[in-house]
Amino acid sequence: MNEFYQKDIISIKEFDREKLEKIFASTDKIMQLNSTERRKICKGNTLAYLFYEPSTRTRLSFDSAMASVGGNSLGISDITSSSAQKGESLADTVRIMSIYSDVLVLRHTLDGSSKFAAEVSEKPIINAGSGTEEHPTQAIQDLFTIKKEKKKIDGLKIGIIGDLKYGRTVYSLLHGLGNYDVDVHLISPESLRVRSDSIYEIKKKLSYTESTDIEEYIDELDVLYVTRIQKERFPDEEEYLKVKGSYVVGLDLLKQMKDDSIILHPLPRLDEISTDIDNTKNAKYFEQAEYGKHVRAALLGLILNENGF
Ligand code: NCD
Repeated sequence: MNEFYQKDIISIKEFDREKLEKIFASTDKIMQLNSTERRKICKGNTLAYLFYEPSTRTRLSFDSAMASVGGNSLGISDITSSSAQKGESLADTVRIMSIYSDVLVLRHTLDGSSKFAAEVSEKPIINAGSGTEEHPTQAIQDLFTIKKEKKKIDGLKIGIIGDLKYGRTVYSLLHGLGNYDVDVHLISPESLRVRSDSIYEIKKKLSYTESTDIEEYIDELDVLYVTRIQKERFPDEEEYLKVKGSYVVGLDLLKQMKDDSIILHPLPRLDEISTDIDNTKNAKYFEQAEYGKHVRAALLGLILNENGF
């Protein structure tokens, strides 16, 4: 039996290097299969999505991934159109949706929401973003992108810049990177440093430096992972305005970087990456979004097939 069969994906912390590499190998396989072969993988299966927060890529890439492996999707992308608006609880909504589907993809404003949902769901839950805590499938996609574009993960110098306090993709990525031998440089305004409770855990797995100055290590980086300042998570607009626009990655910065460095971003981008970068060979954020679809198709194939595919 394949070890992912009928399993939830709640946290990247559940994935050691061996598991990640298995998912990468399955993703490579998905990318090589022709569409007829691919469509057999989840034929007859249904994915349900339940999104309490806005999403473009995550929801649509799951939807499109499921279609690419022959399954179908249904769900709620705007919670105001569902019975949650009438006051139905998350538990009841999840219970009902799990009756109508084979796997459920949940995005919610609260930390711990996916873990809670997994306890009441009859079907596997995939965490598509839980508060400021985690976004595990994004991290798998990010690691896969690094591996594809740099041909390795070990030995790389990786800068992570932006909102490291509220950005859930950062936490999942850091825990994922903890399985590899990498040097990480965390770059953020003082008030947006990685939360101290998390850094304590991350410290055990990863060597990193923290800085407010983007130029400090810029010429050494192999990967620069840029994140959006998470306006909606600030308790106070004033605090947001103080850090808004703190960093902008533009052509002048790119010139200081290694010729073969890559720029990643989970997207959506606001003003933290200048659009001038988009057509350079270093910009890989759109490729990253595309890999996300294949990674998610592989995950669905593994979760829904007892013997893998
Ligand atoms: C991210 C998220 O929702 O955490 N988006 C995504 O899924 N690609 C990043 C963000 O919103 O800034």
